[in-house]
Order: sequence, then C-alpha cells, then structure tokens
Amino acid sequence: MKQIIQNINRLKREKNAVILAHCYQNIEIDEAADFVGDSLYLSRMAAKTDADIIVFAGVFFMAQTAKILSPKKKVLLPRLEAGCFMADMINVRQLREFKSKHPGIPAVCYVNSTAEVKAECDICCTSSNVVKIVKSLNTDKVLFLPDTYLGKWAESQLNGVEVMTFPGFCPTHLKIRPEDISRARAKHPDALVLAHPECHMEVIKSADFTGSTSQIMDFAAKSNKKTFIIATEKGVVDRLQRDYPQKEFILVKDDIVCQHMKWHTLSDIYNALELEQYEIEVGGEIAGKALKSIKRMLEVS
Ligand code: 13P
Ligand code: SF4
Repeated sequence: MKQIIQNINRLKREKNAVILAHCYQNIEIDEAADFVGDSLYLSRMAAKTDADIIVFAGVFFMAQTAKILSPKKKVLLPRLEAGCFMADMINVRQLREFKSKHPGIPAVCYVNSTAEVKAECDICCTSSNVVKIVKSLNTDKVLFLPDTYLGKWAESQLNGVEVMTFPGFCPTHLKIRPEDISRARAKHPDALVLAHPECHMEVIKSADFTGSTSQIMDFAAKSNKKTFIIATEKGVVDRLQRDYPQKEFILVKDDIVCQHMKWHTLSDIYNALELEQYEIEVGGEIAGKALKSIKRMLEVS
C-alpha cells in the first residue's frame, strides 16, 4: 500500500475520522475513502456516521450539508477553493426576489446551493430524488433552483406539475452539446448513452438513460450492453472502467471535468487530517432552518 494511504489510515484510526468522497473526485482518492458515491448517498452517510471527524472530498456545499446534518462533528474540506459554480449562481437576495414574483408556491432547492439558500426553501433534493421530492409536495406548481436544466428534466418526468426554474446551470455539464452525442454515437453505434440531468435538455432527449452519478453507475453495472457513452463528469468514467474492465466506457468528450471537484489530492487529505483543516462552520439559525429542508428530503427519499 502507498505510504500516503498508510499515513492517512493511521490518522483516521487515531482521530476516529471518516473520509467521504464524491464520485467526481480524482480516482486515487477512493483508496483512502470510506464511502464513495453521489450527493444523496454521501449526505446519508454524513448523517449516520459516529466518527468524530468527517473529511469531505467533494465541494463546499457537500461539506456544509454534512456539517448541518452532524453539527457536533468536525467537518473538514481539504481545499477551501473547492466550490461549485452552480451553487454560487443564487444568493439569498436573488432567491427572495424569485419567491416574491411567485408568492405561495413552494420552493425546492437542489442540494447544490448554500446553507443560506437552503434555509429559505421548503425542501431540498438531489439529482437522484428530485422527481420523488416534487411529487411529495402534492402541488401543481413548484419553484426550483438553482439548476434550470434539472428542474426542467424533473418537469418532463412529472405528469402535469409546472416547475418554474431559476436560470442557474452547471458549466461543466453544459459543455456537452447534442452534436457531441451524435458524434460519439456515430463512432460507437452499439453504445448506450447515459446522461446526468444537469445536461442540456437536447442532450437528455438524445440519451438512452438519465440519472444521478450513482444511478448512471448502477445502470451501467446491471446492463448487458458492453459499451457506454457517458455524459457527465470524467470521474464516473474512471470508476466504471476500473470496476467493469470487461465493458467499455467513453467520456462523451474530452474536457468534461469539474475543476473544483479535482482540487483535492491525497496530500491535501493527509494535511486535512493532520492539521484538522479547513473546518466548515454553519451559523446556528441558518443551520437550523437549512436542516429542516435537508431532513425533509431525507425523510421523503
Ligand atoms: P449527484 O447528485 O449525481 O452526486 O451530482 C452532484 C453534482 O454536483 C453533479 O454535478
Ligand atoms: Fe457544481 Fe457542476 Fe461541479 Fe457539480 S459538476 S460540483 S454542479 S460545478
């Protein structure tokens, strides 16, 4: 085993720490991680663990969510630069403005949002449970933020619910254009196209399956097809290829990489554990209100 992994494991034991890693992380992070998965799975693990320290190899909003769910634990983000472009697209002032234009309509926020924004929404969701969450509200109209594409995809799956979206988006997923899918299909005519719902709707329309990162990975694992074109971040392709070497996974185009997710290295994780940095804190009132919308999501899904 690599020396750095041994050192990380020693610190984990000494400090009763766990490492949660999103499946967009650099793949070597998995060697140190206790749990690897999508944002819903990781928030469940954060709520469940009895560790004293959680090191979150993911982006800022994920570490914030872990802290809100486990306020007594120390939650560390190895690199503070690891933000999320989409989460930063809406602040509380913009949210209030959006809500005031549509009074009385429940607001659903994608977990890719700040704690302050979650605190002013009725319920949270992730890409794997968005349809279930909107259905649980039993209403014919919802406000959805920040991702307009995830919101519109959910609307297409919900019979007769109007999903009114804030114009946020993920720059990484929007790099994928419908012509990239056609080009990849022409090169690999037997392949199935699996897409994340943050993609443009024209991309989703041309996909064979749409789902969260874990749902894409499960689909590929269970399918008896051999070749898959993956329309989401490169980390998913790297893990699928490692886990199913008998199948072929093609990243739809070269540069589908979330720079923020890729900040953390094994050395950063070691330093995070050794120096107990960088600690994520969420203010009391905000944390309490945000917890309500996160808990409501976990109860429904
Ligand atoms: P998942 O909910 O699939 O983990 O996606 C999180 C994310 O940030 C995708 O860009
Ligand atoms: Fe945010 Fe997009 Fe990166 Fe996901 S891929 S963390 S939505 S910037």
